[in-house]
Amino acid sequence: MDYRDKTVLITGASGGIGAAFATGLAARGANVILVARNEAKLKELATDLHDSHGIRAEYLAADLSEPCASDDVVEELDRRGLAVDILVNNAGFGMHADFADSDPARIRDAVALNVGVLTDLCAVYMSRMTQLGAGAIINVASVAAFQPVPHLAVYAATKAYVLSLSEALWWEGKQNGVKVLAVCPGATDTGFFEAAAPTPIPSDRDGRRARSSTRRFGLSMRASPASWTGCTTWSSLQSANSSRGGLHWPSPNWPSGPAHRAEQASVTPARAKNLPGGL
Ligand SMILES: NC(=O)c1ccc[n+]([C@@H]2O[C@H](COP(=O)([O-])OP(=O)(O)OC[C@H]3O[C@@H](n4cnc5c(N)ncnc54)[C@H](OP(=O)(O)O)[C@@H]3O)[C@@H](O)[C@H]2O)c1
Repeated sequence: MDYRDKTVLITGASGGIGAAFATGLAARGANVILVARNEAKLKELATDLHDSHGIRAEYLAADLSEPCASDDVVEELDRRGLAVDILVNNAGFGMHADFADSDPARIRDAVALNVGVLTDLCAVYMSRMTQLGAGAIINVASVAAFQPVPHLAVYAATKAYVLSLSEALWWEGKQNGVKVLAVCPGATDTGFFEAAAPTPIPSDRDGRRARSSTRRFGLSMRASPASWTGCTTWSSLQSANSSRGGLHWPSPNWPSGPAHRAEQASVTPARAKNLPGGL
């Protein structure tokens, strides 16, 4: 896919995997629209990407878990005359706690962000892309999408939804020139674990809070955010409408280990066989 002169809308672009998507796409010549809550971080990244790559970088500060947030985003982008060629639905968060101990308002926000806004944006932009017969949607799911996860119950359920929706939209998009891809990262060094922690996480002596928090989750393997947005995603997008389909499995560069091997073994063949088109 040639990304030059394409405009990409990325939610959750102020850090982590979303910022890595923005950086990778801008380096390939795409114009970017960055959305998240932290306006200062968005502005800094937009300026940096514009200066480094000469692309158009817009940003919009928005709390996407608010009711009607997606309507406001679409309205504002339309007002600015920004057409979206590629949508990266990346914003999301998890809560590490027993369901019975979870704050109902946090649960509502997680469902609104991970499921509601992602679906709304898919609906608006897939419809427009279908009319044009071109476009791409990348939905960031998780390896947690492949099985129920106690203590991360709502998060895993929202990601199962993202994966299921993406697989269905991949099939529908295939008929209409729209590519749909689900990215399923494993544990990655971002702000995710800090945001998901039930209590504040103390910094390491060297200040690496995210690393200490992944350890606290019992996860010793961590990928860099860019590993989910690198060559595997770009080549998957290239072939998203081919008979191999639009799922981004864990990267071959992912560190080897028993948990990783179990994930790969449990997800690949069974799901692939059941998809229309012989994925
Ligand atoms: N890190 C992992 O191990 C991992 C594994 C599998 C899947 N994922 C998925 O990857 C995606 C990106 O997460 P990450 O790992 O990069 O975590 P992160 O560093 O915490 O980034 C999350 C992004 O979402 C934005 N965001 C959070 N709440 C928002 C809201 N209410 N409205 C608008 N933006 C909001 C954050 O920006 P603001 O705070 O500025 O709003 C930030 O840009 C998520 O969907 C996550 O579920 C992560």
